[in-house]
Amino acid sequence: MGEFLTLDDVEVAGKTVLVRVDINSPLDPRTGRILSDARIREHLATLRDLRDAKVAILAHQGRPGKDDCVPLESHAERMASLLGRPVRYVDSLIGRTAQDAIGALKEGEVIVLENTRFYAEEEAYADKPVEKMAKSHIVHRLAPLAQYFVLDAFAAGHRAQPTIVGFCEAIPTVAGRVVQREVEMLDRALRAEERPTMAILGGIKADDSLAVAQHLLEHGTVDSVLTTGGVALLFLHAGGVSLGEPTLAVLRKEIEEYDANLAAAKALVGKYGRRIEVPGDVALNVDGKRVEVPVRELPADHPIADIGLETIAHYGTEVAKARTIIMNGPAGVFELEPFAVGTRELFTAVAEASAFTVIGGGHTVAVAEALGIERKFGHVSTGGGALLNYLAGRPLPLLDALRRSKAKFGAHP
Ligand code: 3PG
Repeated sequence: MGEFLTLDDVEVAGKTVLVRVDINSPLDPRTGRILSDARIREHLATLRDLRDAKVAILAHQGRPGKDDCVPLESHAERMASLLGRPVRYVDSLIGRTAQDAIGALKEGEVIVLENTRFYAEEEAYADKPVEKMAKSHIVHRLAPLAQYFVLDAFAAGHRAQPTIVGFCEAIPTVAGRVVQREVEMLDRALRAEERPTMAILGGIKADDSLAVAQHLLEHGTVDSVLTTGGVALLFLHAGGVSLGEPTLAVLRKEIEEYDANLAAAKALVGKYGRRIEVPGDVALNVDGKRVEVPVRELPADHPIADIGLETIAHYGTEVAKARTIIMNGPAGVFELEPFAVGTRELFTAVAEASAFTVIGGGHTVAVAEALGIERKFGHVSTGGGALLNYLAGRPLPLLDALRRSKAKFGAHP
């Protein structure tokens, strides 16, 4: 890949390889069952290419203190059935049990080590210099046991933590197939050779979307930004529309530092004007029923829950003209059927467009899967926060680590 090495650049047969994946998955809050194994499936290509190596997998699940921060036993089971080979779970990351299990690996064997987020070091060393991270027990104990580190956790690539970046100068670190494909596909969209190019930004993470809109417009990557969901509401407000108390209350609750984001949205509208499109009509949630309202008739006493039908039609026409489309986030409260229309119609329009299409973000992928159209996009990114950071032009610690490793170990480690 030029800037960094991939699995194509190393001979892994017979070698012990640590592989950092992102199989952080939605779990059923009641049973703990894995609800979607999409992320596990994504890593199969990497694991298949490591079939002659001795593989120890590092991964996280959930965030410390949250109910979904659980051991990776069922992840290992699911991986085994998808891979068609045994995958053994080891309930330790750096202890003697883990070290012995890694040492005893035979060619073709795969083990999954304990959830990295059970270890305070992941957080304690976050954002520290790589030299310092190399002194963490995680790196210090595991690096000497392996010949290579395969970095494949694109979706956690915005986290500068020991299991993402800490190994890069300790042992040769190369990109796995997920990272390789993400970078290839996202860069293709960002090169925007096929015009017109459009970003459709929705969902409630409006602060991240603002940074994405700004970066893409500033660099001429996109010709227009179509706003939906919470992002559209923020831009409507920034354009002087009075949304009504119920909608404003939701926005203030969901978007951190709302006033600062509103000011940033105003500045963007001032600079790019109509290249940032906002809905001309919306759908209100009136006691669970969908009620269409033109934006000029706002404010409303009921919360806005979707973009309106005219906007859906207009956006559909714009989508059909585009040749490159980047889409993130749902258009409305898609979990409630009456307000899923905008999301469903827009996703279908993008899936059917004769454009190179990239979609990503937690909810975005879940929606595409629920509609059964995930295969119709040019690329479905595994990233949520990592993807938004990449699209916003922020450096990803994971990619920096890969570059550093190549600089240290050379092109043929
Ligand atoms: C994700 O799900 O986006 C990644 O696994 C990163 O998770 P985090 O936001 O908890 O670091």
